Amino acid sequence: MAFDFDAPTNRLETDSIRWDSFGVKEVLPLWVADMDFKSPPCVIEALNKRVQQGIYGYTHSPHQMNALIAGYLQEQYQWQVDPDWIVILPSVVSGLYTAVQQLSNSDENVLIPNPVYHHLRLACTSSNRPFQEMPLELKDDRWVLPSNGLSGLLNGKTKLALFCNPQNPGSTVFTKEELQEFGDFCVQNNLWICSDEIHAGLVLDENKKHIPLASISKDISKQTVTLMSLNKTFNFPGIGLAWAVAENPILRKAIQVGLHQTIAPPSLLAYTATMAAITEGEPWRQELIEYLRGNQNRIHTRISAIPGLKVDKMEGSYLAWIDCSSLNLPDPYQLLLDAGLATSPGSQFGRDQFVRLNFGTQRSRLNQALDILEKTFS
Ligand SMILES: Cc1ncc(COP(=O)(O)O)c(C=O)c1O
Repeated sequence: MAFDFDAPTNRLETDSIRWDSFGVKEVLPLWVADMDFKSPPCVIEALNKRVQQGIYGYTHSPHQMNALIAGYLQEQYQWQVDPDWIVILPSVVSGLYTAVQQLSNSDENVLIPNPVYHHLRLACTSSNRPFQEMPLELKDDRWVLPSNGLSGLLNGKTKLALFCNPQNPGSTVFTKEELQEFGDFCVQNNLWICSDEIHAGLVLDENKKHIPLASISKDISKQTVTLMSLNKTFNFPGIGLAWAVAENPILRKAIQVGLHQTIAPPSLLAYTATMAAITEGEPWRQELIEYLRGNQNRIHTRISAIPGLKVDKMEGSYLAWIDCSSLNLPDPYQLLLDAGLATSPGSQFGRDQFVRLNFGTQRSRLNQALDILEKTFS
């Protein structure tokens, strides 16, 4: 391997949210979704060069940026996007909150999956939007759409559906058929869609590919805002740049509300990091996926040997969604924390008998975490 993902990194003194939130010496913090690896060398070099210029004035998005992103979407996902459909944002979360505020009124309902990344729910509650949860079901070790259909989830006032693909937590990389079912349902019921696809570059299952929901059909594309970013894949969320893809000009306009006013533009270094990742980051990404697959295998082996614990297929990303419900514990998260392992509590995502373990870390650290899990739950 050209890149050494086993190399230890020290995240102390970097003001890391993940590492500074607990007494570091006592707790192994594998919760918030960033990885413990350095960003790719090509990103570090590009940032170094840009910093050395010493000029940090107000900066517009580079002229080639949208075309570069469109080319990347074509190459990675065979998704043909007009560069003009792309809106550059500072983060996916700001896009989620804007989508909820602009694409629904306060008396209209929003459909969101459960379990799901908490900001999808918070985007609704913070804007006083009523929401209906779409309970995902575990089938063949994958979290999929409800088997009894989706129509019972609408109440006549539903206007917007939020979606997360690959799913967090639960890691489902949705198939073309599953996406078609969901997208067609939204089209038939005249729902706008906001699809959070930030984990797209992290598909671990060798038999799966990320398929953007909006790439399924023209009809779905016209109702969808897709939110994407390379922050997760190339591990620079502290620099932060995202983009929305919206074919429909109404949706594109909606997503731009507040941008450069209440929502700051990305920092100039964010353009540099994202462009370097697009143009030179692929070999690093490929090796990262290999390394994460090794971690994923380790988790499958060790967790399935602990009676009462279950984990799904982990088709994408680096977040293991561990089901502790058979153990009938009042609070599995707290038990692990008391034992020295900080996971994310399942309650954050809507299921309190689960914990989410971030395995975007060196194998030695993952082994420590699995030792704690084993000791605590055995
Ligand atoms: C599904 C999902 N969306 C968005 C984000 C955050 O994106 P950003 O840092 O670009 O706001 C995360 C981070 O964990 C996530 O898992």
